[in-house]
Amino acid sequence: MIYPIVKYPDPVLARKADPVTEFDADLQKLVDDMFESMYAAEGIGLAAPQIGVSKRLFIVDTSLGKDPAKKLALINPEIVSTEGKQLEEEGCLSLPDIRDKVSRAFHVTMRAQNATGEWFETDGDELLARAFQHENDHLDGVLFIDRVSRLKRELILRRIGRLQKKGEW
Ligand code: NI
Repeated sequence: MIYPIVKYPDPVLARKADPVTEFDADLQKLVDDMFESMYAAEGIGLAAPQIGVSKRLFIVDTSLGKDPAKKLALINPEIVSTEGKQLEEEGCLSLPDIRDKVSRAFHVTMRAQNATGEWFETDGDELLARAFQHENDHLDGVLFIDRVSRLKRELILRRIGRLQKKGEW
């Protein structure tokens, strides 16, 4: 099932999500639906709050569905360690057509549970590290526009306000 993507300023995007406690068929279905929804929206990452589910899980696939080995579902994820810095343009399915440069760690090691509840560690750099940090932020109610300068954030919010007035948001 393809879920519609929740857009800013829906309050679910600002909430701290709850831990996942049940590792059952419903969770596997949610993960499968999230992949379907993310591919339909042509994203490389999707956090559960973005489909209106305030739970601590996200998925990433930097290959956009081309390489099954790149499909990752991280449940109750934690950032274990970070290294270095990168400054690149970032976007978000919940903020369509908004892009800005965001400073992130270059390399990130994550710890998370899989859909059957087993803990694992995974790491990545560059784009994958950026996706890990961006999606992990969603679980704490943080958007990438909260990580740019105050002036840039205000410009972005004004632009969204104008689009809302025109009915284009
Ligand atoms: Ni996002």
